[in-house]
Amino acid sequence: MLRRSLFPLGVSPLWAAFAQSASLVTPRDESFWTLLRKQFPLREGLVYLNAANVCPASLPVLDRHQHFLRDFEADPSFQNRAKFGPLRERVRVQAAKFFGVTSDEIAFTRNTSEASNTIVHGLNLKAGDEVALVEDNHPSNLDSWKNHAKRVGFTLNIIPATQLIDSPEALAEKVEAALTAKTKVLAITHVTSSTGVVYPVARLCRAARERNIWCHVDGAQSGGMLAVDLRQIGCDSYATSSHKWLMGPLEAGLLFVVSYQQKAVWPSIVSVGYSEDGKGGARFLEAYGQRDDARLAALDATFDFLAMVGMNHVEARIRQLTSHLMTKLAANPKVQLRTNRNAALFCGVVKADLPGVADLRALDQSLYKEQGMAFSVTPSGPIRGIRISPHIYNSLEQMDAVADAFRKA
Ligand SMILES: Cc1ncc(COP(=O)(O)O)c(C=O)c1O
Repeated sequence: MLRRSLFPLGVSPLWAAFAQSASLVTPRDESFWTLLRKQFPLREGLVYLNAANVCPASLPVLDRHQHFLRDFEADPSFQNRAKFGPLRERVRVQAAKFFGVTSDEIAFTRNTSEASNTIVHGLNLKAGDEVALVEDNHPSNLDSWKNHAKRVGFTLNIIPATQLIDSPEALAEKVEAALTAKTKVLAITHVTSSTGVVYPVARLCRAARERNIWCHVDGAQSGGMLAVDLRQIGCDSYATSSHKWLMGPLEAGLLFVVSYQQKAVWPSIVSVGYSEDGKGGARFLEAYGQRDDARLAALDATFDFLAMVGMNHVEARIRQLTSHLMTKLAANPKVQLRTNRNAALFCGVVKADLPGVADLRALDQSLYKEQGMAFSVTPSGPIRGIRISPHIYNSLEQMDAVADAFRKA
């Protein structure tokens, strides 16, 4: 069912057609996904498989962003811009609902990097404290801690990455074993971008809470990929980006900080709008000065779009696409999978090496040039391989085409 807020401001005719047709088919039908694909501006012939890096915004989001941008530029007066405050608050309510928390627990950032760094720099840590973190965290949740530790003097306990571990329980035990009496923060990743490991975040957050340890979760690869309920996960903070799996506007992100812990975080930037009275919830972490109001307002179409499809369907479709691909790749003796085949330990991101191919970068380039396939590549090292990260705008035939290309490589 289409939500009201998409209509008043000029909806793409394709979206309107989709809304009508989508009521005739269900996410169980391939035709539903074919219709949905038409809602993205992806050029004909492109097989875009790099959602883990950046996703295209859907046409409704683009329409909405463009509408607000034109409106802003046509009349940048305070009077005209007054509308953006309530619009941002409406988006905050949508974001909170989407993640199962309250709007006072959401701060808008530019991306995951900024959100995670707000936690890294905002918590009161001192020499003698320990931060436990996992080696396959993204640099924004790994190098940021290393850098800050140098300045402040706390120590890091870096848990080695284990992509091919047996079970979520074994993975959880490995991380839990690193927690000591000195640990003040556990910094983990919900789904890793390197090989797509899904960490048992709810169990790890519970373990952290029992030991009075702050648990920060990097959700760059889970917000918009998995049906995320932050209350159920039980983290103290969570960071994600709009331009990844949420398929929203570029350079928008959010930071969740659970209400009863907000006083423990110092803001990294203080500017107009900052208040210490605690009445604005997590908003004190987003007083960065002038923001791109149009971009934040356009987030409403982002959440509407996902709500219309249903996050349960989005997650199920991504699981279907990646499982289909994993099965095909696993049957190819030339392929060495870097991604765990246990369905409880992977989703959305598949990393596959072709040890017989000397120059993976050259292969990646030729697959783009000749077959329009866009991946990310790690040319060397222990997780060497081509990363394939499909989203709801991809098809099962495209997964078959990728498996075929790997067979011929
Ligand atoms: C796991 C993870 N965390 C954080 C980031 C950083 O995201 P952004 O560049 O949007 O800040 C990425 C980007 O790929 C990522 O994969």
